[in-house]
Amino acid sequence: MGARNQKFWKYYKQYEVAQMKAMMNNGQKDPLICTDRFDNKLLVITGATSGIGYHTAKKYASMGADLLCINRSEEKSIQLKAEIESGYQVKCDYLIADLGKINEIHAVADQLSALERDIDVLIHNAGLTLSKQQLTDEGYDLIFVVQYLASFIINYKLIEKLKVQESARIVMNNSEGHRFAPWGLHLDDLQFKKRRYSGLKAYGSAKLAQLLSMQIFREKFESSGVTINAMHPGAVKSDTGKDNGPLYKWYKRNILDKFLRPTHIASDALYYLGVSKDLENTSGKFFHLTTEEIPAPPAWDVAEAKKLWDISLELCNLKAQ
Ligand SMILES: NC(=O)c1ccc[n+]([C@@H]2O[C@H](COP(=O)([O-])OP(=O)(O)OC[C@H]3O[C@@H](n4cnc5c(N)ncnc54)[C@H](OP(=O)(O)O)[C@@H]3O)[C@@H](O)[C@H]2O)c1
Repeated sequence: MGARNQKFWKYYKQYEVAQMKAMMNNGQKDPLICTDRFDNKLLVITGATSGIGYHTAKKYASMGADLLCINRSEEKSIQLKAEIESGYQVKCDYLIADLGKINEIHAVADQLSALERDIDVLIHNAGLTLSKQQLTDEGYDLIFVVQYLASFIINYKLIEKLKVQESARIVMNNSEGHRFAPWGLHLDDLQFKKRRYSGLKAYGSAKLAQLLSMQIFREKFESSGVTINAMHPGAVKSDTGKDNGPLYKWYKRNILDKFLRPTHIASDALYYLGVSKDLENTSGKFFHLTTEEIPAPPAWDVAEAKKLWDISLELCNLKAQ
């Protein structure tokens, strides 16, 4: 039997109807709310200039946290800084990085690891959806880079700094969309060069890759006081899809948006996951908003996670540590 078939049967046997039902039920729930303040702590967040990231930045600022936002637009960052600093009397700094460019991800990761201040919460939020494939300068699939490799490189380069701090939380804004790769990753074709491109599959593969990497990062941070978790932010209103063509934008505006929930449920959840004492020792878990959920079987495949880890190090020109 070929390797793809083997994977199919392995995962097929692990799927359970009860888990699918749980996922549907979790989609109806509201997030738990954390009312603890976060004064003088530092949130580092990617993609704070719109949608969930913007609401999350405001939520943390409203609870007293300083912000360091990693955005690609200088103009939007200046506006955000002015709005946050005048509205909440906290500091809102920013670093500019296009997280679709490997060299810029490395550069921003280096800046973060050189920060003298502790990073209390790091939220990987920046993301996009595409219906047509775009390649990066390195010839990588753009979705794979923004939605997976950016968090991989930043987390990897922050391992030592966060361990030295002895306390930090990483939260990755993942997605139920990881289920769009139901039979696992094509480790021999992560960039969709040998297969027909599908926006949903590319998105699902990148989110699945991020969940697999979480397993290894959880091990690396074991007993260090640093936790790493991932979440699905609900299906909420945002600017997602703005990089697609007019047909998609019409569909989103006139049909999809009518079924979406308010954005604040995602930011409330990201605050709870980053701050609540209930999760002090919780690591390596997937949450639907704030409800712990079992992700799809390919996301718990440890052997696959290890293989992906080695491939990712090579793709990003990182040395094993
Ligand atoms: N909305 C949902 O229902 C939903 C569901 C599941 C998962 N998610 C996840 O939630 C996250 C946030 O998405 P959203 O829905 O809030 O979308 P959004 O409104 O489009 O926000 C995306 C953010 O990411 C930034 N970004 C995109 N490409 C970037 C790049 N190359 N470099 C740096 N920043 C970049 C955007 O910057 P600009 O402002 O410059 O464009 C923006 O700040 C994504 O990871 C998405 O997959 C969302």
